[in-house]
Amino acid sequence: IPVDRIRNFSIIAHVDHGKSTLADRLLEFTGAIRENSGQNQILDKLQVERERGITVKAQSVSLLYQYKGDNYLLNLIDTPGHVDFSSEVSRSLSACQGVVLLVDANDGVQAQTVANFYLAFGKDLTIVPVINKIDLKNADPDRVTRQLKSLFDIEPYDVLRISAKLGIGVKAVIEAIIEQIPPPAVNRQSPFRALLFDSWFDKYRGALSLIFIQDGNIKVGDEIQSCHTKKTYNVKSLALLRPQEDPITQLVAGQIGLVGCNMRSSKEAHIGDTIYNPSCPVEPLQGFEPSRPMVFAGVYPMDQSQHVNLRSAIEKLALNDSAVTVEVDSSPALGQGWRLGFLGLLHLEVFSQRLQQEYGAEPILTAPSVTYKLRMKPNKHNVKTGREIFVNNPALFPDFMQIEEAFEPMVVGTIITPDKYLGGIISLCMERRGVQRSATNIDNERVMLQYDLPLCEIIVDFHDSLKTISSGYASFDYEDNGYQSSSLVKLGILLNGVVVEELSNIVHITKAQTIGRRMVLKLKDIIPRQMVQIAVQAVCNGKILARENIRAYRKDVTAKLYGGDVTRRMKLLAQQAAGKKKMRMVANISLPRETFIDVLKK
Ligand code: GTP
Repeated sequence: IPVDRIRNFSIIAHVDHGKSTLADRLLEFTGAIRENSGQNQILDKLQVERERGITVKAQSVSLLYQYKGDNYLLNLIDTPGHVDFSSEVSRSLSACQGVVLLVDANDGVQAQTVANFYLAFGKDLTIVPVINKIDLKNADPDRVTRQLKSLFDIEPYDVLRISAKLGIGVKAVIEAIIEQIPPPAVNRQSPFRALLFDSWFDKYRGALSLIFIQDGNIKVGDEIQSCHTKKTYNVKSLALLRPQEDPITQLVAGQIGLVGCNMRSSKEAHIGDTIYNPSCPVEPLQGFEPSRPMVFAGVYPMDQSQHVNLRSAIEKLALNDSAVTVEVDSSPALGQGWRLGFLGLLHLEVFSQRLQQEYGAEPILTAPSVTYKLRMKPNKHNVKTGREIFVNNPALFPDFMQIEEAFEPMVVGTIITPDKYLGGIISLCMERRGVQRSATNIDNERVMLQYDLPLCEIIVDFHDSLKTISSGYASFDYEDNGYQSSSLVKLGILLNGVVVEELSNIVHITKAQTIGRRMVLKLKDIIPRQMVQIAVQAVCNGKILARENIRAYRKDVTAKLYGGDVTRRMKLLAQQAAGKKKMRMVANISLPRETFIDVLKK
């Protein structure tokens, strides 16, 4: 297929606005899958994605379509729809020349619509605006059209109206993609050069990489080299994704395809890398800014016998997800483990869920933390003042006597909400130490708010609270906004007088009392009664802020079953033993596996 008949595009949308449904319709319409094949949402491959109904991992599919007598190759690159994953969206967009901007006819423009629009706009991509779900009873496409005009200056006559569910207007979307989005600017005569923009791990074939071929061509059997690692490989397999793998012997410039070349370790497939033919060295293509993890958590095996398995599971998953950073770590109570960096809390949860589902690993996760910047006071080892350190683990937060000034990471949050929830949302933002930047009406009944917020205040349950306050109608997105000076203190937790560093938490001084009280009550709730009484205390700068006791209790599940049925008794004892397995001894107290995260939730 000649280059001028290739289109590379993504669909960008707020969560639930129908991206996967439209992708399915495009696949059906172009004959890639049978209609009503019952396989809904083909592109959402991972089990977690299906369960949570969100796309995490960008996938891609090549479609063929006949238009005005010519065959066109349409490469649809799927993008994740959640705020945590905007760096993945940005990466997927690097292989595209245009996007379909999909907006729900009832919900209208939402926070991620705004964020995604600016990502695409910033990359100079052609934007095809589409209003979806016009079949809904409450659909108001006219209002959404006005929102698109007032926020993005999109002309009403450019906006398509469709129902992805019923298949109305899908043909017009395909034709707009062909008519409006330019073909990729590539050169088939130049030496081979391709952008590696995604990669995942296959148990049998090692790393598989998704590449966009910028110049020349690549054949099975070719030698290729990575600009980043300088390693060379032999191309073992090439495939188009349609959406199942369709093996092919050659890929040419303009195409997107999957390469297998026996990359064994997770570090070899570098997202954003340029690959080329070692006999014709080339200038590297512009890669991506590596996504910067914002939220960190410790991951530890339930017991050290699982250490090796957990390590290999983490390595494989990290290859599937280049946004995760992995460092070896150890903790006095939990032993050897890792400190992982994530884009946000959902990313963390999805990662741990995948560790369980795909690798059967059941690790302990510690409470999430952000990265603080600290300017230290001079001391005898460090004569100069102004030395700066970064700490992303509350356990390593220095004593307050040593800190001159502390800084915390900030974000700019965008919230779009119907105005009747405005009061509740403003209170929530104030409670989270937010400072309002602006409030703009985007139509008669919806407001867009922008807030400066400390990152640590939104990583645990901000999104859930926002949804609760607004009955699910408010949407939220955020971007990173540097560091700000802040009065931070370390809140420690003692169990029977022993400091459990893994439960400690960095908080703003004005909130230490409230949070300390809340954590102690929460722990009283989470920790089951045990053979001994347990005192739970919160301390801050040497002062006890709160205390609760958990009374001793002996749980004998068979007490009620005198003699009699032995099998029943055995079964109950076995169940009790199984229940115990999920507990971890810390300071001679057994804690449920989820304690470290649950303690922070309200
Ligand atoms: P993420 O993968 O989380 O980003 O969501 P998505 O944008 O892919 O949304 P998805 O396609 O999963 O659709 C969300 C819901 O909207 C599903 O229940 C769909 O059945 C429904 N839906 C999608 N398109 C239409 C439509 O045209 N009309 C109606 N009534 N419902 C639709």
